[in-house]
Amino acid sequence: MNRRQRLKIGIVGCGAIGSSLAKEIVIGLRQDASLVALYDIRLDKAQALSKKLTKSLKLCVGNLKDLIKRSDLVIEASSAKASWDIARQSLAYGRKIMVMSVGGMVGHLDELYVLCRKNNAMVYFPSGAISGVDALKAANIAGIKKVVLTTRKNPKAFSGVEYVEKHFNLAGLKQDKVLFNGSASAAVKYFPQNINVAAVLGLAGIGIRKTRVRIIACPAVNKNIHEIEIESKAAKIFTRTENILHPQNPKTSFLAVLSAIATLKQILQPIKIGT
Ligand SMILES: NC(=O)c1ccc[n+]([C@@H]2O[C@H](COP(=O)([O-])OP(=O)(O)OC[C@H]3O[C@@H](n4cnc5c(N)ncnc54)[C@H](O)[C@@H]3O)[C@@H](O)[C@H]2O)c1
Repeated sequence: MNRRQRLKIGIVGCGAIGSSLAKEIVIGLRQDASLVALYDIRLDKAQALSKKLTKSLKLCVGNLKDLIKRSDLVIEASSAKASWDIARQSLAYGRKIMVMSVGGMVGHLDELYVLCRKNNAMVYFPSGAISGVDALKAANIAGIKKVVLTTRKNPKAFSGVEYVEKHFNLAGLKQDKVLFNGSASAAVKYFPQNINVAAVLGLAGIGIRKTRVRIIACPAVNKNIHEIEIESKAAKIFTRTENILHPQNPKTSFLAVLSAIATLKQILQPIKIGT
């Protein structure tokens, strides 16, 4: 792709991930991509980011449709409640979309395929804060017996999670506490902002219902730790990722942002490495 054909990117959601990606597009990826629009339900956040990046409000748009019209690729970095609608509208316009709030897409996979095929569009789900998605995809071709994700986070990471606040009192927790043990489909329902990785694993492997998830509050950890066990015909796989937290949002792992940047590079660059 030469300078004249830079990929036009719009970002929905100007929080921790959206802001980091916007900065990377403007600085690190500027030869291959240009940031053309920012949208946030909180207009002040889109305005502040636009001002920071361009010293003007020119990137800021007042609604999702305007952002979609300006963009070749829409990046969704908003919320699991909104991601399906953002994807649906973007794909209907034939746009590519990269979805960060993967939990919100569960149950819509068939519709995604239909929309992509009908409109010649494409959806990208970055691996996020886990390792092993490449091997999972490959192993799945031969057949997989089980996929288990165990997530450990500091109790603070669960503040504001309705399911946790209803069933547990984590204040002053001294020992590890299992908050959830069940299917990935139930995990994304009860932990929509915390467990996008479960959704990615489900989509890449044996499906969201068969993928198992354990979520543990650990007062001794200050990282988001994801362990994945996979048993397949091709290999036994175990990965452990100890994630440093994003400085602007402790619910988000720094690696998730970098994974999105790596996905953007895969889209933009002619040589694709990895499965
Ligand atoms: N895929 C992954 O591995 C992964 C990892 C971490 C976070 N996430 C998800 O990515 C999303 C963004 O994470 P973050 O850390 O940047 O969150 P954040 O809270 O820092 O930022 C989210 C922003 O989106 C805006 N927003 C919310 N609803 C919106 C809507 N309907 N339209 C437009 N803007 C809207 C908010 O005002 C906020 O500015 C979250 O849903 C999070 O769960 C995914």
